[in-house]
Amino acid sequence: MLVRLLTFAAGAAGLTALALAAGPAGPAEEGRRAEWRAEYLPPASIPFPESNPYSPAKAELGRRLFFDPILSGDQTRACVSCHRPDLAWGDGRARAATREGGEMDLRSPTLLNSAWQDGPLGWDGKFRSLETVSRVPIAAPSNMNLKLSDAVARLSADDGYRDAFAAAFGDPAVSTDRLEAALATFERLIVAGKAPFDRWITGDEDAIPASAKRGFDLFNGRAGCAGCHSGWSFTDNSFQDIGTATGSDIGRGRLMPSSVALQYAFKTPTLREVDRRAPYMHDGSVATLSAVIDLYDRGGIDRPSRARQIKPLNLTPAEKADLLAFLATLTAEADREETSTVFPPDAPKP
Ligand code: HEC
Ligand code: HEC
Repeated sequence: MLVRLLTFAAGAAGLTALALAAGPAGPAEEGRRAEWRAEYLPPASIPFPESNPYSPAKAELGRRLFFDPILSGDQTRACVSCHRPDLAWGDGRARAATREGGEMDLRSPTLLNSAWQDGPLGWDGKFRSLETVSRVPIAAPSNMNLKLSDAVARLSADDGYRDAFAAAFGDPAVSTDRLEAALATFERLIVAGKAPFDRWITGDEDAIPASAKRGFDLFNGRAGCAGCHSGWSFTDNSFQDIGTATGSDIGRGRLMPSSVALQYAFKTPTLREVDRRAPYMHDGSVATLSAVIDLYDRGGIDRPSRARQIKPLNLTPAEKADLLAFLATLTAEADREETSTVFPPDAPKP
C-alpha cells in the first residue's frame, strides 16, 4: 500500500473536522462515522514473526516455489493453480478442483493479507500458522499429490533450487520446514492494493459515493457487520456461526467438539477485493454479494451456536444497495489487472 499513515492525533482531528463539514446531522449513526473511520487506518508495515523473519532471498525462493509445478506429483499443479493473482488470489470456483476431476468440500480462500492473520488458518482453523499450511496441499493425494520426502528429493537434485536454499538459509539443505518458511515469507507479501475506501479513510472525501458512506455507517452500526469484519483487513481472524451451514458441515466444531459457540463456525474472511471473489462462503454456496446481504438480512438459523450479532435486520432495499455500494469500495482501482501488491523482495512494507 502506498497510503500514507496519518499520525493518530492528526488523523482523528482531521476526520472529525471532515465529518462536521459533511453537513447537517443525518441519522444518529452518521455522527459516529469519524470514530469508526479511525478504526480502518492502514498498517505501517507488514508483520513477520520472529520465528520466520523476512529476508529478500527467502521471499524470492518462496515466490519461485509458489508458481512452480515441481511441487506436484505429475507436475501439473502449483499453489498458483488455486490462488491466482488475477482472481484476487482465489480460483473463482465454488469449491476447489480435485486432481481426479471432482470437487473438494471447500472453496479456495484468498491469500490477500495473510500476514495479518494472527490466528489459525483454514476455514475451520485446522492450520496452526502460515508455516504449517503448504505441506497439506502438496502431500494430499487429491491435490498436488507429492510425498514430502519426494518434494525434498526433487528440490535437492535441482542446482538452481540448491543455490536458492543456500541464499535463503545459509546452506543448501532442503527440508519441509524451510520450504514452508520460504512459501510463508512470500505469502506475507501479498497485500491488498489501495482501494477507494483507503483514499476515503485517509482523507479524500470524494473517493467514494454518498451511498457507500451510508453503507459504511450501516456496516459499523445497525447491521453489525464490523463486529466480525473489523479493522483494515475486515476480519477479526476468528471463527463464527453465521447461521447458514447445516448437517455434518460443522466447521471448527469438528476440532473443538465441546465448544457450543464453535459448532458451524467458519473463519471470518477478509472483505478486501470481495466483489471480485464470487462465489462466496467456505463452500461457495452463495453466488452473489446481493445474495450474501439477503442472507444476513434474514438472520440465519436460530441455534445455540449462532453469533449474537446475527439476527433478522429488516433492511430496506435502499439500505441493501448502500451496503453493496460500500463493499464495492474495498476493491482496488479497476484499471489494474491485479488488485494486490506483491512487494518487491527488498521492501516489506504496505
Ligand atoms: C486445488 C486447489 C489448491 C491448491 C493447489 C493449493 N491450495 Fe491453498 N487452499 C485451497 C483450499 C480449498 C483451502 C482451504 C483449506 C481449508 O480451509 O481446510 C486452502 C487454504 C490455503 C491457505 C489458508 C488461507 C486462509 O486464509 O485460511 C493457505 C495459506 C494456502 N492455501 C496456501 C497454499 C499454498 C502455499 C499452496 C501450494 C503449496 C496451496 N495453497 C495450494 C486450495 C488449494
Ligand atoms: C458473527 C460474525 C459476522 C458478522 C456479524 C458478519 N459476518 Fe460476514 N462472514 C462471517 C463469517 C464467519 C463468514 C464466512 C462464513 C462461511 O464461510 O460459511 C462471512 C462471510 C461473509 C462474506 C463472504 C466473503 C467470502 O469471501 O466468502 C461477505 C461478503 C460478508 N460476510 C459480509 C458481511 C456483511 C455485509 C455483514 C453485515 C450485514 C456481515 N458479513 C456480518 C462473519 C460475520
